[in-house]
Amino acid sequence: MSMKPKFITLEGVDGAGKSTHIQFIKKYFIEKDLNYVFTREPGGTILGEKLREILLYNQMEPETESLLMFAARNEHVHEIIEPNLNKGINVISDRFTDATYAYQSGGKNVEIDKITVLKDWVHKNLQPDLTFLFDLPVEISISRLKTNGNLDKFENEGLSFHKKIRNSYLNLAKKEPNRFKVIDSSQNINKVQDEINLILDKVFL
Ligand code: TMP
Repeated sequence: MSMKPKFITLEGVDGAGKSTHIQFIKKYFIEKDLNYVFTREPGGTILGEKLREILLYNQMEPETESLLMFAARNEHVHEIIEPNLNKGINVISDRFTDATYAYQSGGKNVEIDKITVLKDWVHKNLQPDLTFLFDLPVEISISRLKTNGNLDKFENEGLSFHKKIRNSYLNLAKKEPNRFKVIDSSQNINKVQDEINLILDKVFL
């Protein structure tokens, strides 16, 4: 029986352990022999990756940032996300539009309605089927970031910025409890992996 391909997105504050959790998710897809493409935002296309460099390492107006995020997203949706879904391939994206609501609106006060206009413009009929929100107190995420060195513009922001991001993500999750699966990333790594597997089993088994 062929199943409709799924669009899965991964979100969370910087330092929430997303890179480790991505390895668990990829492992799940490989072990279950499920087809998938893995991609990321900002980025995922040649132009998108150039915009990522600009976005992560240059200061700019929050509205400019929102517009560039959606410029990259427009390429990503049309070049990667939709064509793969249309071919029956599951798409896993490290961040998507929830990040613009959390960072540019929640973190930098861009009006929500402006983000929604851009969202409707770029992907009115495309929504993730499932969104993992990796959540943990920002005191922990920031201390994890500090051990990484070489931080980008967003990672270099202070505690209050990261708190706003976390709260906006949690509010988004409350509004759409069916789509969002909030994972407590402060717990033991094996428990995180078990939770991810259980959630994916419900979707794919
Ligand atoms: P990451 O690859 O470490 O998640 O880095 C991407 C950074 O870009 C992260 O700090 C969140 C930020 N970002 C936004 O501010 N808005 C967006 O719409 C997206 C996709 C990412």
